Amino acid sequence: MSTIELKDKVILITGAAGFIGSNLVKKVFEIAQETTVIGIDSLNDYYDVSLKEYRLQELMQYEQFTFIKGNIADRALIQDVFEKYKPNIVVNLAAQAGVRYSITNPDAYVEANLIGFYNILEACRHSYDDGKEGVEHLVYASSSSVYGSNKKVPYSTDDKVDNPVSLYAATKKSNELLAHAYSKLYNIPSTGLRFFTVYGPAGRPDMAYFGFTNKLREGKKIQIFNYGNCLRDFTYVDDIVEGVVRVMQKAPERVTGEDGLPLPPYAVYNIGNSRPENLLEFVDILQQELIRAGVLPADYDFEAHKELVPMQPGDVPVTYADTEALERDFGFKPSTSLRDGLRKFAEWYKTYYSI
Ligand SMILES: NC(=O)c1ccc[n+]([C@@H]2O[C@H](COP(=O)([O-])OP(=O)(O)OC[C@H]3O[C@@H](n4cnc5c(N)ncnc54)[C@H](O)[C@@H]3O)[C@@H](O)[C@H]2O)c1
Repeated sequence: MSTIELKDKVILITGAAGFIGSNLVKKVFEIAQETTVIGIDSLNDYYDVSLKEYRLQELMQYEQFTFIKGNIADRALIQDVFEKYKPNIVVNLAAQAGVRYSITNPDAYVEANLIGFYNILEACRHSYDDGKEGVEHLVYASSSSVYGSNKKVPYSTDDKVDNPVSLYAATKKSNELLAHAYSKLYNIPSTGLRFFTVYGPAGRPDMAYFGFTNKLREGKKIQIFNYGNCLRDFTYVDDIVEGVVRVMQKAPERVTGEDGLPLPPYAVYNIGNSRPENLLEFVDILQQELIRAGVLPADYDFEAHKELVPMQPGDVPVTYADTEALERDFGFKPSTSLRDGLRKFAEWYKTYYSI
């Protein structure tokens, strides 16, 4: 692998106002203050836009941060951004996320995850035009959802993942395929990261832990799918961004094959906690931490607000990351416990909503 220093580099992060993106921008500045970060985000209203604005507000304190409001599916915009800022490292996190929403809003996935990602690949490709050094590393978000209903656990990047069970998963798998072709054709060093259920402060309100919190606070019942028989590899956001910055600094090597053509400088890794938790256990810790933080009253009748319901289409019963390759190549493994992570979420929630 070739080592890339972040110092004095230009890093383009798409989805910078998103949950993971905003945390990544902060992390980059924590370790390399002299770096320039260009963030793009469409600030779409898939969930509460004020949360994206709040995250962005926190990023505006960094002098070296430039924000561009725009859609990665806008080819001309992406071309202009690459020509103007000439990024050395590109991290593509902008995407339409969520499994269930892809059932009612498929267009959003095709636009952001397919056309948008294609534009990023094309821009990386043309960054080498006229012998320019261009993009040294493209890192992009894939997802644990590519494993579909894989029976074998833990999920390894060596497993065959040709049977997606949602459009979201199909677009993420397509990203990996497109990246492979572009890496081979244009020698773009690329690394795809399959994230496993990421949670934390200022996270996504469409995700279970956040939605459950809102409902419990409003005194509504929460629905626990598959009667609680789901195992999820919950990964704390700080662990995810630690993994991403480490990966950003080590790109797959450019090597020429026997035929004189480049071997694709291409890699895919899992980033997950590698410790799946039962959904009921998770919800139990969540409510304890919500009580501890003062979001819920001490005498909250949790049992009365819990409803066990069947599996939802597109959902999978288990996610469990094999992170051996990540540990081997980057010396890192997520380690934040669910209790510590949910505690931080509960404390943030209390402050953010002034409870
Ligand atoms: N959070 C998780 O558990 C998880 C798990 C697996 C994979 N991922 C992937 O990680 C990435 C980041 O996820 P997140 O949880 O931070 O989600 P997020 O929705 O908070 O962040 C994505 C950001 O991208 C922006 N965006 C969407 N479409 C865009 C477009 N066409 N052009 C420009 N901006 C656009 C959104 O406004 C949003 O701010 C996504 O690619 C997601 O699919 C997340």
